[in-house]
Amino acid sequence: MMEEPKGRPVGGTEYSWCRAVPGGTGIAVLAILTSKTLEALKLQNAINKLQKLHPVLRSKLHSNPSKNSFSFITSSTPYVQIKSFNLSSTRKILESLNPPTKNLPISPLQSLLEHELNQNVWWCSNDNNENDMFLASMYSLPNEKWVVVLRLHVSACDRTTAVSLLRELQELVGEAEEEKEERGGKVVNEINLGIEDLIPSGKVKKSLWTRGIDMLSYSMNSFRSTNLKFIDVNSPRCSQVVRIQMNKDETERIISGCKSRGIKLCGALAAAGVMAAQSTKCSQSDRKYAVVTFTDCRSILEPPLSAHHFGFYHSAIMNTHIIRGGEQLWELAKKMYMAFANSKKSNRHFSDMADLNFLMCKAIENPGLTSSSSLRTSLMSVFEDTVVDDCNEKHQELVGLEDYIGCASVHGLGPSMALFDTLRGGRLDCVCVYPSPLHSREQMQGMVDCMKSILVNSVTESGE
Ligand SMILES: *[C@@H]1O[C@H](CO)[C@@H](O)[C@H](O)[C@H]1NC(C)=O
Repeated sequence: MMEEPKGRPVGGTEYSWCRAVPGGTGIAVLAILTSKTLEALKLQNAINKLQKLHPVLRSKLHSNPSKNSFSFITSSTPYVQIKSFNLSSTRKILESLNPPTKNLPISPLQSLLEHELNQNVWWCSNDNNENDMFLASMYSLPNEKWVVVLRLHVSACDRTTAVSLLRELQELVGEAEEEKEERGGKVVNEINLGIEDLIPSGKVKKSLWTRGIDMLSYSMNSFRSTNLKFIDVNSPRCSQVVRIQMNKDETERIISGCKSRGIKLCGALAAAGVMAAQSTKCSQSDRKYAVVTFTDCRSILEPPLSAHHFGFYHSAIMNTHIIRGGEQLWELAKKMYMAFANSKKSNRHFSDMADLNFLMCKAIENPGLTSSSSLRTSLMSVFEDTVVDDCNEKHQELVGLEDYIGCASVHGLGPSMALFDTLRGGRLDCVCVYPSPLHSREQMQGMVDCMKSILVNSVTESGE
């Protein structure tokens, strides 16, 4: 029997998340609406199994304030205790949350998601400076419905992890439902290495000169680019979400619009976001917008990792774009996508990783580096690849899955809009997380409505 890994110090990217999360950026939440009588015990068993399969889920984040360092300490046994909220305590929580604006009703699923995005156990260090990486709650709603919420520290959970986590949880709950044999899942030693230790050799080193220029352009670009209008820069911030949902027909046409131009959906989403932002500006002068694209590096690491290897293995590429007004969606989408693709071709996702992490930590220490101390470093962030939920309907029915939303908080340092897009049963479902009250719900609903109409009009006008 191999000895379980006991833990390790965090890597560079994980370290910057450890610095960001106390401020409110990097709390990953997966909120699931289910309609089936889900016994807490069954869910607890499934979560225990997940923790057995993935050491990072049963790790604690240990911080050493005097040394400003962090490490993962892996516990040998599962520890997550689901917090259960009955009908009346759930109702109390829902009532205590910001009342939604009249014209913008918010579902209980979304309200509870927002509530959890703003629960930060990593905010202050407790007695032994140790905090769980993984927390679970279950809220009861009227009419035999439940919202199950999984909350994780982003250093242990990127979007790929969240997607795999949902799938594995569904399988485990479904299996319990079918009373099958226990799945002999393979335990991965995933706690072992951070992304920096898995970058193919020769892809990181930059000459000191290039490094200096890049750092300079990064800081200039990111901290001096155009922002959305700030509504309230002084009040404490929390994360809120608005959703863009499209029907099958609209989705199909947008996807084929991307395919015919050889670009990915992230290019079209980013272009629509920039155009929507530009449309809110009164003057038509040139503006510079920063867009961050997250790319999952698992498949190009050495050794390559699978989607079932949990942790944070994404890297970010930041590009800035000058907008003059009057751009056409597809022209701009192609330009923006190619800027990202060319950056990736020249390995910037690896070579710039340390610089971006360094800048992120600098800005956290000195909010004044960002305009109005807003801590906004870009207009928006997108993911290179859309999550495709192939809807194993049998399983979803089995576990009573009705709807889910997965995203991460951004009210510390981050973009004004963080997009998390999913193709679900052929329909585009895109969650946009923003910092409130720096931006208001009305403002952001207006932004995503505008993005949607830009996207939809671009495929009807051109007869696509
Ligand atoms: C619901 O939970 C609250 C808090 O845990 C408890 O005080 C209350 O008695 C519970 N109500 C019911 C109906 O079980």
